Amino acid sequence: MQVAVLGGTGTLGLPVVRELAAQGHSVRVLTRTAPADPVPGTEHHPVDLATGAGLDAALEGVHTVVDAANHAGLRSERVLVEGVRALLAAERRARVSHHVEISIVGCDQVPFAYYRAKTAQERVVTQGPVPWTLLRATQFHYLIDRILAAAAKLRVAPHTGILFQPVDVTVVAARLAAAAETGPSGRLPDVGGPIVQTLTELAEVRRRTLGQSLLPLPVPPLGRVVRRLRDAALCLDNDGETVSFDYAEWLRRRCELPGI
Ligand SMILES: NC(=O)c1ccc[n+]([C@@H]2O[C@H](COP(=O)([O-])OP(=O)(O)OC[C@H]3O[C@@H](n4cnc5c(N)ncnc54)[C@H](OP(=O)(O)O)[C@@H]3O)[C@@H](O)[C@H]2O)c1
Repeated sequence: MQVAVLGGTGTLGLPVVRELAAQGHSVRVLTRTAPADPVPGTEHHPVDLATGAGLDAALEGVHTVVDAANHAGLRSERVLVEGVRALLAAERRARVSHHVEISIVGCDQVPFAYYRAKTAQERVVTQGPVPWTLLRATQFHYLIDRILAAAAKLRVAPHTGILFQPVDVTVVAARLAAAAETGPSGRLPDVGGPIVQTLTELAEVRRRTLGQSLLPLPVPPLGRVVRRLRDAALCLDNDGETVSFDYAEWLRRRCELPGI
């Protein structure tokens, strides 16, 4: 099957590309920048979701599109919402049969611009012209680690009761690749990691594993966003499915990799 992966060089997109290529699919990687180290057997097509440039040529002959593109900055609305609208219109012109979208558990519960954009993106896909599958996942271990690494550079560890349930990105990628094969399935059960932990607990896991000495930095429980995060808005509810291993195990495996 000819599959196109938007954002196929990203944290999620790259393992999706690897998984689909390993399953024998023809994979096109659609991003602005060509991959420095392409997955063997895949081809790159330059596209820009912010302008729609390159989409028609990139989607010629494509059966299924997996959208793993992202933009977390000021232009998130432009890329995630208007971008997916332009993408779906191009998919329709190219007669693409299936659009697979990734979203975030609880994005509709947190009044933060990026999550609002993700909620709007979901609406564009689920009301759009192409048969779809939508999977919501919790935060990837990488994201939690990036936040804690940035704090550790300043010799501090955030001290806050905000709750996360981080998940391994390769497990989510495998779910998306399987969804691409299955065909349009609507909303799939949400997925998340095995444990709900406060950011304080996650920071302590990292500090202990890496043997660092850090000062606790209290995060005041102010504002609706922090309050919603303390209420576990980004964690699975009872209908979600827990998958993968926890952050401690992810960190342990990462520490075993050469050069880390
Ligand atoms: N990170 C998490 O913890 C998490 C958790 C759950 C769900 N998700 C969702 O998973 C998806 C992927 O997130 P990620 O963290 O893997 O993203 P990421 O690592 O930041 O990767 C973003 C990808 O999108 C491409 N991209 C960015 N702007 C683009 C544009 N204008 N046109 C075309 N491609 C563009 C990038 O390539 P170029 O820059 O070369 O264009 C890159 O390949 C997002 O929908 C996100 O909401 C993420």
